[in-house]
Amino acid sequence: MSNPSLLILAGDGIGPEVMNEVKKIIGWYGEKRDLAFDVEEDLVGGAAYDAHGTPLTDATMERAQNADAVLLGAVGGPKYDTLDFSVKPERGLLRLRKEMDLFSNLRPAQCFDALADFSSLKRDVVAGLDIMIVRELTSGVYFGEPRGIHKEGNERVGINTQRYTESEIARVARSAFELARRRNNKVCSMEKANVMESGVLWRQVVTEIHEAEYPDVELSHMYADAGAMQLCRWPKQFDVIVTDNLFGDLLSDAAAMLTGSLGMLPSASLGAPMANGRPKALYEPVHGSAPDIAGQGKANPIACILSFAMALRYSFDNGDEATRLEQAVERVLADGKRTADLLGPEGGTPISTAEMGDAIIAALDASI
Ligand code: IPM
Ligand code: MG
Repeated sequence: MSNPSLLILAGDGIGPEVMNEVKKIIGWYGEKRDLAFDVEEDLVGGAAYDAHGTPLTDATMERAQNADAVLLGAVGGPKYDTLDFSVKPERGLLRLRKEMDLFSNLRPAQCFDALADFSSLKRDVVAGLDIMIVRELTSGVYFGEPRGIHKEGNERVGINTQRYTESEIARVARSAFELARRRNNKVCSMEKANVMESGVLWRQVVTEIHEAEYPDVELSHMYADAGAMQLCRWPKQFDVIVTDNLFGDLLSDAAAMLTGSLGMLPSASLGAPMANGRPKALYEPVHGSAPDIAGQGKANPIACILSFAMALRYSFDNGDEATRLEQAVERVLADGKRTADLLGPEGGTPISTAEMGDAIIAALDASI
């Protein structure tokens, strides 16, 4: 049997730097754990635009559709700010999500003990935090039609449309309930059913799926604004949060700060199972391309490395090796190793992107 295939799209800014460290980790698994992958690389975002005049070529799209999993670094940068909307780096990412139909976006917010003092919230509010935000990723107001800016009389009007079908809500709800069963068995669904019809339907469908298929899981509902407040007040009340594309975008950035640094957060975007039983999947750090520090060896590779751990767990059904990698990260942090983003107000000497990758490899070596 051939090895599972990975398509690496490192992208822009710090993307290639953090992805370099992931490549070392992939190499380690091939060498030390007999877990080899066939790795291909291609361009996305501004890098693809520079080479081909488009943020994602059809050929790359095709390769992504055929890969067992896609690993993405980051897209975007100031150089591309003035480009037309249709060829902006972000469009490359949105096209991958849409055409691979990656409707379920898993964004864990986990606070490593060694970092509990880095959060802007008090230690006891965040220490030991482990929640999962499931964001719907292929529909809602980011994709709904009609959209655009047009003239009405003598002024301009900007329009976007929030639109959800029953089946779109049902499938992301199922993925949240399935996850909850493997965690602490609790789902909180967030919408704005008090002011939006799409929110009313969201609540109805989530409730129906719950009653018919997942009565063993504890379900609650919250308006998304109240949910944002509760996330800051007492985040440990949550296990799995399921919400739409727009609210999930906002709530997951807020949740990121609970953990101390955006440089720590991985994500998985999952779709329907392929012929081989694996879900269509793309893994990426939640942080962006950070152009201000790109090329300086300062970036924290942990979010990208933990995204690969998610790939081991969700695409390759290898929770044990995923846990090994997560624990290696935890050990390195507990040893006091810090990239610049993880230095507190008292300062200290940061290690480089590559040194962090090497430290994690050393911790992996020590684990076998
Ligand atoms: C995210 C980002 C993206 C989004 C951008 C880069 C298109 O903010 O993944 O959260 O809005 O979904
Ligand atoms: Mg976002």
